[in-house]
Amino acid sequence: MGTNGTPPTGRRAAVVAGLRTPFVKAGTDFRDLSAVDLGAAVVNELVARSGIPPKEFDSLVFGQVIPSPTVTLIGREMVLRTQLPRSVEAHTVSRACATSIQATTDAADQIRLGHSDCAIAGGAESISDAPIFASRTLAQALVELSRAKGLGDRLRILSRLRPKDFAPVPPALKEPTTGLTMGESAEQMAQKNGISREAQDEFAWRSHQRAAGAWETGKFAAEVMSVPLPPRYDRSSARDNIVRKDTTVEALAQLRPVFDRRYGTITAGNASPLTDGAAALVVTSEERARALGLVPLGFVRAYAYAALDPRDQLLQGPAYAAPVALDRAGLRLADMDLVDMHEAFAAQVLSNLKAFASRAFAEKELGRAQPLGEVDPAKLNVNGGSIALGHPFAATGARMILQTLRELERRKGQYALLTVCAAGALGAALVLERE
Ligand SMILES: CC(C)(COP(=O)(O)OP(=O)(O)OC[C@H]1O[C@@H](n2cnc3c(N)ncnc32)[C@H](O)[C@@H]1OP(=O)(O)O)[C@@H](O)C(=O)NCCC(=O)NCCS
Repeated sequence: MGTNGTPPTGRRAAVVAGLRTPFVKAGTDFRDLSAVDLGAAVVNELVARSGIPPKEFDSLVFGQVIPSPTVTLIGREMVLRTQLPRSVEAHTVSRACATSIQATTDAADQIRLGHSDCAIAGGAESISDAPIFASRTLAQALVELSRAKGLGDRLRILSRLRPKDFAPVPPALKEPTTGLTMGESAEQMAQKNGISREAQDEFAWRSHQRAAGAWETGKFAAEVMSVPLPPRYDRSSARDNIVRKDTTVEALAQLRPVFDRRYGTITAGNASPLTDGAAALVVTSEERARALGLVPLGFVRAYAYAALDPRDQLLQGPAYAAPVALDRAGLRLADMDLVDMHEAFAAQVLSNLKAFASRAFAEKELGRAQPLGEVDPAKLNVNGGSIALGHPFAATGARMILQTLRELERRKGQYALLTVCAAGALGAALVLERE
């Protein structure tokens, strides 16, 4: 990639269409649907709405962060369960919360290389349908039982089991190397970076205000499909159900901290909630878009992924990735018309923003003389973010790309920076452009 954003092959990857399901709180509207169901619904509808003949598609990249043990290759399922021709090659990706950023940059790279001309990129997540595991002791006993020689053997194996061995084990949002949950890690960041509870609640309130405003003014109407709901399919989910128009800073201040009950600052109100949903984009070569008579929503100009030590500030990845992505784009933060940052926690976004503006961080952590700079609040997450809209892990990146490109169009802007923090202390940054 050259520093003016032109790929060496001269081919640009255009995002020509996108769609998402409503994002709903886990255990509510999509309780009886799986991630594969949600993904297939959005891919099918996206293909239909795009007006692109299905035979034009040649590849698909899709992600799911907490995969189902029974459907391990969601990417290929998105082809087999939709109207796409069976000849569309597909693969599955995961980069934790940046999964559909990864799906999009993979698709864009294949297009830039000339290996693909018309692709789908996206992700789906169902926390309602997350796998529940048996304890290790129970699992081992079941394996031994299957090999047991006689009744005596069976009784000996069963007699080892205690009631606690039968307790189901849910997947944990824990960092394996530190043993801390995302929330506990974000709590540490709030303390280290001096992010107050008030600042977090104010940020969360704004996320709700802006997301509710975007719904009210019809901004989301064309990017959110309605999903018929089982078992009778006589009801549909048509809107996000986490956004609270009427929440106030005072109401948020009343909520009790969840991850550090005594001294903590993170609550259900200033964290992203556990969410079900799916989102997908159509990514094509510029030439193919033109040949199909499509006007691109925008182009992938540059991107960067970065990583730090998970024992340090787990969700600070965006502060490492953003300067590299902007360098690769040949642009500065000041050139951006919009900045969209994934809101895992208000404390995390506010920590990332502090690092963006800090000369000490730039010198010590990045070896740069100048900090990235201050983000203009009027350009940041202007239609709300993951705190208000929800965060179906693998779908969030595609949601952000679609939402940002459509807003860029409304504002007749040219450039946008997107960032996502992710488990494993990873960070993603993407620079999008309109012609
Ligand atoms: C924080 C978390 C534990 C809260 O889960 P929960 O307790 O099921 O949350 P709820 O939605 O029931 O909210 C708890 C309470 O806060 C209230 N609340 C939540 N958001 C609110 C808001 N914006 N305004 C006012 N009240 C709010 C709810 O009404 C509820 O009140 P009630 O107990 O009187 O019914 C859960 O969302 C979580 O684990 N989030 C983090 C996910 C994560 O790690 N994301 C990052 C991945 S990188």
